[in-house]
Amino acid sequence: MNERWSKKIVALHWLSAALLVGMVIVGSVMVGLPADEPLRRVLGRAHSLTGVTLGVLTLVRLVVRLRGPSPAPIPLAPLHRRGAAFIQGLIYLGLFGMGLTGVATAYRSNWHAYIEGADPSPVFDGLLSRQVHGVLVIGLVLLVGAHVIGVLVQEVRKGGTLRRMLPFLK
Ligand code: HEM
Repeated sequence: MNERWSKKIVALHWLSAALLVGMVIVGSVMVGLPADEPLRRVLGRAHSLTGVTLGVLTLVRLVVRLRGPSPAPIPLAPLHRRGAAFIQGLIYLGLFGMGLTGVATAYRSNWHAYIEGADPSPVFDGLLSRQVHGVLVIGLVLLVGAHVIGVLVQEVRKGGTLRRMLPFLK
């Protein structure tokens, strides 16, 4: 059995990771700007477009992962394996949750009128999806942090973990 993820999975993994980091940074910078700042509208447009792209990419990644071959499992204690799989599952859920709450917020508010310049500021007035979007991003950052730490700890203890997702590592 192969010991590495397929090229397709590797490409989707790192593209998603890069987009996620970008989305968190852009989203945080965007909400810190005054509503009448033109850059906030530019970032808002980029945020919506990239967010939907990331959602679609996550769906494609899940399908490719479920249908394609997986490498031989890392030798882990059963509890450790279940914990790692649980965190990865929650990351998928978090990514879908961010996409869905983002789209729901955009559709249920004046977000599009705002980013197109027709309205002076976005109005979310107690919109639940907007609140959940803000809370979910914290959960997602914590989960990705736990995932990265878990991989690095395993790499230091036993080695051979990172190379499964990094084709240039021998
Ligand atoms: C994985 C995907 C996404 C990530 C990581 C992400 C991240 C963020 C972050 C960090 C914020 C600021 C949260 C806060 O400080 O409360 C935010 C706000 C927002 N996001 Fe996203 N987002 C994603 C997807 C989307 C999508 C798909 C849309 C819409 C199509 C969207 C629309 C919005 C809106 C309308 C806001 C509020 C902006 C404001 O308050 O002015 N997001 N997002």
